[in-house]
Amino acid sequence: LRVLVLAGGLSYERDVSLRSGRRVLDALRAVGVEAELRDADVALLPSLVADPPDAVVIALHGATGEDGSLRGVLDLCNVPYVGCDARSSRLAWDKPSAKAVLREAGIPTPDWVALPHDRFSELGAVAVLDRIVDRLGLPLMVKPAQGGSGLGAAVVRDGPALPAAMVGCFAYDSTALVERYLPGTDVAVSVIDLGEGPQALPAVEIVPRNGVYDYAARYTAGRTTWHTPARLDTEVAEAVATVAVAAHTALGLRDLSRVDLIVDADHQPHVLGVNVAPGMTETSLLPLAAQAASLDFGRMIGTLVSRAVA
Ligand code: DAL
Repeated sequence: LRVLVLAGGLSYERDVSLRSGRRVLDALRAVGVEAELRDADVALLPSLVADPPDAVVIALHGATGEDGSLRGVLDLCNVPYVGCDARSSRLAWDKPSAKAVLREAGIPTPDWVALPHDRFSELGAVAVLDRIVDRLGLPLMVKPAQGGSGLGAAVVRDGPALPAAMVGCFAYDSTALVERYLPGTDVAVSVIDLGEGPQALPAVEIVPRNGVYDYAARYTAGRTTWHTPARLDTEVAEAVATVAVAAHTALGLRDLSRVDLIVDADHQPHVLGVNVAPGMTETSLLPLAAQAASLDFGRMIGTLVSRAVA
């Protein structure tokens, strides 16, 4: 099998993606899979047509890798790939749409408002922000409707901090997702299907040193402590795993995903978002969870590749 690991691209998460791609490449090679790393640039499409690989592993984060466009191209070129299809990817990538599907499926997710920048300008910041605070209360979480790695995201604890958070968010996307902020324990559950249906790997508990799991806390060694498995009672850990698999299934995902959740003070899990191209770097959560489950990372990806080409 000749596997192409796609990474890089032009998203805000390019650097993270290159780190993920290298890690996946090394892990596949370590278990004897012939793999090469390829940047997702303009020459990709002709090369897929001229010299199609047997399969693709998508280590592309951000728009191209997660908004369905690349997956659509791979479908068009008839190249199998690990991960969900274009439609589900697009759905999971757009946080307000994904949250609507989760809520419809009865999966808890914090209340939210999706706010396009035009609406913000049209009504005036003060009026819009007052309405949001009236509706959702404080504190709030502001993040780009489409984005990852904590870029453009901010916790807002009082009204006056909201405009700056919105401006920071609009730098990354023309629509903001404003969510009720639930205090609790941050956990991430990787969901993997190695042939027996989607299974939850052990939850990883995230404890950022400065209290915020932002870009630096995610990708700088020493900025975050991870507990794997998460320090949850058995019943809570089971509930978290069940909700994560339910979210993966409700969004129509396949092969792998990472479901980010908050476990509130009453031990109830709430889904914050679902990643269809989860980070695979040295400080990322899916490889940590695989290790905790005694799964060799390279073999795990290799199995997903074999399933994609089968
Ligand atoms: N978007 C990054 C890569 C993640 O969620 O892991």
